[in-house]
Amino acid sequence: MRIIIVKDYEELSKKAANVISGQVILKPNSVLGLATGSTPLGTYKSLVKMYKEGVVDFSKTITYNLDEYYGLAKNHINSYNYFMDKNLFSHINILKENIHIPNGEAHDIEAECVLYEQSIEKSGGIDLQLLGIGRNGHIGFNEPDLTFEALTHMVKLDKDTIEVNSRFFENIDDVPKKAISMGIKTIMRARKILLLASGIEKAEAVYKSIKGKITPDLPASVLQLHPDVIYILDEDAASLL
Ligand code: GLP
Repeated sequence: MRIIIVKDYEELSKKAANVISGQVILKPNSVLGLATGSTPLGTYKSLVKMYKEGVVDFSKTITYNLDEYYGLAKNHINSYNYFMDKNLFSHINILKENIHIPNGEAHDIEAECVLYEQSIEKSGGIDLQLLGIGRNGHIGFNEPDLTFEALTHMVKLDKDTIEVNSRFFENIDDVPKKAISMGIKTIMRARKILLLASGIEKAEAVYKSIKGKITPDLPASVLQLHPDVIYILDEDAASLL
């Protein structure tokens, strides 16, 4: 595990964008696993800038997003489809057919999850998976659980996650209670993992995920078992290490 500690969010975003664009430059048809949330916003902004400056070309890049709310229409302003389009995809030259996000409107969720896994496999597997981390240590939408086993599946969101994510919704009751998420197994199959954390409210989860017991009760702790993980942390998120 490599831990890079930077001064602030701006530096974190630039470093993360460098790692991602480096991956795409070395292997233009890279398969990227992408994340949503506030943390990767600066990274996506830097990537768009690099694309516009001609540093990186996404025409062959394939992406799989970690998760999507269940029951929100694709064009809903709080869907992760909408988020990705607004913050990244509409500004770069990625091909529509190379973008994959779990379909939160699928009727047969189980079939959707199986198809998502098969599609990742067919693309050759994820080369670089970008992750944020929840205050309770969740990655993707893998909430504290009893086992690490899952592949892409339907999850019931924790009270804490619903509360934290309600900042994006008008009303806490509007926050979906379920989501489709890559499982811990899906994430662990990625060849390289890049986890970003910024801010003091992430310090405890970051500390436990790196120095604590490996337990599904703190989902990110499983990353201690992955052979190629980079953490990029700002000073606040790293303050308990
Ligand atoms: C959300 C997402 C995660 C994200 C996490 C942290 O619930 N499903 O993928 O990493 O919460 O979000 P933020 O970066 O906004 O703190």
